[in-house]
Amino acid sequence: MNLLYCGPIINNIEINIIWCIYMLFIKNHIFSCQNMNFSCQNINFPTLYRDLHVLYIYIYIYITACLKQFYLLHIIISRFDFTIMNSSNHRVITCKCAVVWKSGEELKIEEIEVDPPKSTEVRIKMIYASLCGTDVLCCNGFPKPLFPRIPGHEGVGAIESVGESVKDLKEGDIVMPHFLGECGDCPNCKSKRSNLCHKYPLNFSGLLLDGTSRMSINGQKIYHHVSCSTLSEYIVLDENYVIKVDPRLPIEHVPFLCCAFTTGFGATWKDVNIEKGSTVAVLGLGGVGLGVVEGARQKEATKIIGMDIHEMKSEKAKIYGITDFINISEKSISELIKDATGGLGVDYFFECTDVPQLTINEAIQSTRMGYGTVIVLGAGLVLDWQMSYVPLMFGRTLKGSIYGGIRTHTDLPSIIDKCIRKEIKLDELLTHEVSFNDVNKAFEYLKEPNCVKVLIKF
Ligand SMILES: NC(=O)c1ccc[n+]([C@@H]2O[C@H](COP(=O)([O-])OP(=O)(O)OC[C@H]3O[C@@H](n4cnc5c(N)ncnc54)[C@H](O)[C@@H]3O)[C@@H](O)[C@H]2O)c1
Ligand SMILES: [Zn+2]
Ligand SMILES: [Zn+2]
Repeated sequence: MNLLYCGPIINNIEINIIWCIYMLFIKNHIFSCQNMNFSCQNINFPTLYRDLHVLYIYIYIYITACLKQFYLLHIIISRFDFTIMNSSNHRVITCKCAVVWKSGEELKIEEIEVDPPKSTEVRIKMIYASLCGTDVLCCNGFPKPLFPRIPGHEGVGAIESVGESVKDLKEGDIVMPHFLGECGDCPNCKSKRSNLCHKYPLNFSGLLLDGTSRMSINGQKIYHHVSCSTLSEYIVLDENYVIKVDPRLPIEHVPFLCCAFTTGFGATWKDVNIEKGSTVAVLGLGGVGLGVVEGARQKEATKIIGMDIHEMKSEKAKIYGITDFINISEKSISELIKDATGGLGVDYFFECTDVPQLTINEAIQSTRMGYGTVIVLGAGLVLDWQMSYVPLMFGRTLKGSIYGGIRTHTDLPSIIDKCIRKEIKLDELLTHEVSFNDVNKAFEYLKEPNCVKVLIKF
């Protein structure tokens, strides 16, 4: 805008100069006639003709400059209009969203009001969303029973409007909203050892960073879900939680990188660094589990044992690289794993179910004595577990993780690059599609054994 405002100033100078020349011309060549004895006999016609010709050129230049001035003015006005339009975009929007009113209830499609973005925030018009296991938990009150609430933290959309202090994003950008930010300055960001930023944290409060919500229904506040709430036509969040998407990545694949799959994939090189030749067990072959399988394969683990309660889950898992599949039967998990590893147990065990409270002790006992590691990625409604710690004393490690340790601004682009280069097959994750109005169907599909990811179209 500043540059544009320089336009008329420069142009004014230009016009003033032309005006001065013009006046000088008039003074020297025409009005000087007044001092002469002005009669036809005194007029030198060739000179007058030349002078009029020059005058014509000056007038021509002057009119052109004026037109240019008008043209610039027109641009400024249209820019100014655009700014006004922007600020009119900074109005409350009424749109559709999916609300959970009470723990365990179906979602209801409601008309809500979405406030304009504040200073460093952006408002996104959602294009696609998908579900992760945590959305199911969210509808059941995880991690806190905050209702009414809009679930969803996987999705992609276009920036509709931006707050006045937003630096790196603009209207129309295709972006991925996220539940983790990365300031680069706080102790955790500086350490480079964690993706849990202090300034832009994983926010379980149901509110944005200033402690308020941008969504309401008939004046009643609606809670956000981890800064995102992607099951709404419009969402508002701080720009630090937003990642601009490389257009080479198919837009319908973007939601799949927002949480589950990337969590599993990232955990294999950020939470632990699987060595070539390792043995790996993956319990739960949904979005998270398949990400682990893909990561373990890329890390050249020699044995990747997939486990699930559904046999059908092995089909996709084979595409991503399991070497063995175990259908959880009456035998305990640790016995099954010991059987499959010559009694030793695995080097790495990834817990990727929504019932970690049931499986955690078995997971620890399934790992190799001395240096086996359990990585807990799964989350459940039961928040306190009883843990038998003796197996842990035998040199084993138990590690928890959010988003597989992936830093949204530093690490995620390299995963996106892998997807663009087709080193990761994201299209294999897509098993079902629904329109936004049928969002409850998406939750139903998730329970089916052949379902991995449901794409929700707005
Ligand atoms: N730590 C994180 O940052 C993070 C990120 C994403 C998801 N999660 C959590 O991870 C879990 C999995 O998420 P998802 O999106 O992959 O869900 P999902 O529903 O796609 O997959 C879960 C899988 O676990 C299987 N399963 C359920 N009970 C089992 C059991 N007792 N034994 C073996 N397999 C069993 C299911 O059949 C399914 O295949 C959820 O609890 C979710 O909340 C955590
Ligand atoms: Zn930080
Ligand atoms: Zn998730």
